[in-house]
Amino acid sequence: MTEVSNPSEPVVALVVAAGSGVRLGGAEPKALRLLAGRPLVAWSIEALVAGGVDAVVLVVAAGTADWYGPVVASATVPTVVVLGGATRQESVASGLAAVPGDASIVLVHDAARPLVPASVVAAVVAAVRGGATAVIPVVPVTDSIRRLSATGSVVVDREELRAVQTPQGFRRDVLVRAHAAASGASYTDDATVCEAYGEPVTLVQGSPDALKVTHPLDLAVAEMIVRSRR
Ligand code: CTP
Ligand code: MG
Repeated sequence: MTEVSNPSEPVVALVVAAGSGVRLGGAEPKALRLLAGRPLVAWSIEALVAGGVDAVVLVVAAGTADWYGPVVASATVPTVVVLGGATRQESVASGLAAVPGDASIVLVHDAARPLVPASVVAAVVAAVRGGATAVIPVVPVTDSIRRLSATGSVVVDREELRAVQTPQGFRRDVLVRAHAAASGASYTDDATVCEAYGEPVTLVQGSPDALKVTHPLDLAVAEMIVRSRR
């Protein structure tokens, strides 16, 4: 743990949107797909700002940056667009390189989680401000889970399991050093990159609303969540 931080330290969010959205399908980037008439990434940025984020680095696929002009124009905090890479980890690394110098707290958020509650974002920020170096929101697993092996399968006690969401929150210097050390190895999320670097990971409560829009059905569920909020 580092010492408790100054409550005025700026918070920057990397919003990763450089994936190809193969499972959702459709012609435009997944982050620009409409949810209740607004691009997924616009919802994501709004939720991050409501939770205490002061600036955004939006990471998009090569050749698509111009398409994000209206999203950037509608953002209520300073927002820059940078190009991502072939993997999510590369996209995060490229976003990290564009984080403004004064930011000491960095959140990494999937553009594909448009409905994360502001309270979850705020809890992640609060945990980092409170001295945690790597923070993840988690939710219980609701399905029964089995681990497959060459000879069959064995049940896993789901009470011991948690599904990991975003935004994940970090001391900026820790995330930068962990990512630099991780180049070459591949990790599915940023807290795991930090853990491999020896940093403890702190858990906070996530939310079912922070679902990741992956398949077409997820977009339908997200539409229903928006309707239920209204
Ligand atoms: N992402 C990214 N750069 C990549 C791959 C993924 O920035 N090279 C981002 C996606 O844009 C998304 C988030 O990481 O916001 C989570 O990834 P996922 O839900 O898998 O989105 P896609 O990779 O776009 O979808 P798919 O795997 O179905 O192609
Ligand atoms: Mg993907």
